[in-house]
Amino acid sequence: MIEGQVADLRNLFGRPLPRQEQPRRRCRSIAISSGKGGVGKTNLVVNLAVVLSGLGARVLVVDADLSLANADVLMGVRPAQNVADALAGRRGLEEVVTTGPLGVALLPGASGLTHLADLPPAQRTCLLDRLAQLEASVDMVLIDTGAGIGATVRDFAAAAGEVLVVTTPEPSAIADAYALVKVVHQEAPRTRFGLVVNQVSSRGEAAEVARKVTSVARRFLGLEITDRGHLPADPMLPQAVMRQMPVVIAYPHSPASLALTSLGEQLWRESKQAMGYPRQAASHFQEPSPRATQQRTAQHPFIFSRVRAAASRRML
Ligand SMILES: Nc1ncnc2c1ncn2[C@@H]1O[C@H](COP(=O)(O)OP(=O)(O)OP(=O)(O)O)[C@@H](O)[C@H]1O
Ligand SMILES: [Mg+2]
Repeated sequence: MIEGQVADLRNLFGRPLPRQEQPRRRCRSIAISSGKGGVGKTNLVVNLAVVLSGLGARVLVVDADLSLANADVLMGVRPAQNVADALAGRRGLEEVVTTGPLGVALLPGASGLTHLADLPPAQRTCLLDRLAQLEASVDMVLIDTGAGIGATVRDFAAAAGEVLVVTTPEPSAIADAYALVKVVHQEAPRTRFGLVVNQVSSRGEAAEVARKVTSVARRFLGLEITDRGHLPADPMLPQAVMRQMPVVIAYPHSPASLALTSLGEQLWRESKQAMGYPRQAASHFQEPSPRATQQRTAQHPFIFSRVRAAASRRML
């Protein structure tokens, strides 16, 4: 799988990467995408990143919603630079990376710069190339691709190798989610897909949506989509958005936070198995000092109580 992903990246670049540039793909990259807009991708990315970081993962969030970037807003950070500075050559990609809640690294998107929404292929390639190098320093990369089936979304999804498709129970969102799966699958058949049904009113509703999407994909594309579960419609989530805080921090006991925590735990458990812990050191993202970790623990007791439980199950 790891070698396959590198091969995908090479194909995207249209040329082999020089040996010394080849990233060590010990990290797992997941694109979080949707056909329809406004279904909850950015909140999913930001909150999953915080949960994963709380569990001990080194996480990089890439805000690849290049024209309507807002992961920084949801994280409550104000980056001085963004990906546009890197693309223009004013800054290196590493210099643009900033730190969000619980030490999550964020590569901020360039909100309002609509000309970036459909990057010319050469710039897209260059961005993916440099991202592949950043990946070598973290355990997980979560990419907020924005909505739709445009070239930028498809390229990021294919380069990640794994896509978490988000939909709500609305028929139009379901249809658009399937359209996205279809186009990415046709262009990059090795891509793995998971499905998250957001804003559901009941477990039964979520199961019905997941059944529809997975059975259509199986029947018409011969593709297995992993059902990654659902998030309930939760009034605390928009309240957290208003406070510019991830809901898992602002309201850690809310139903959406519990579901997000459980999804994060599931992903991290799998990643550790795939990466074969213990992980390698050598990161340019600083490991938090014990004091910083203590402070984080005091601020976010809920996450860390779950972290402790998860740690006892860890295969270190
Ligand atoms: N589980 C939920 N319960 C209640 N409200 C939710 C839930 N998930 C998302 N929302 C609300 O839906 C809105 C859209 O969320 P978000 O910005 O994460 O979507 P998006 O898919 O990233 O949108 P876009 O396609 O515009 O980037 C937000 O205002 C958020 O408060
Ligand atoms: Mg968004």
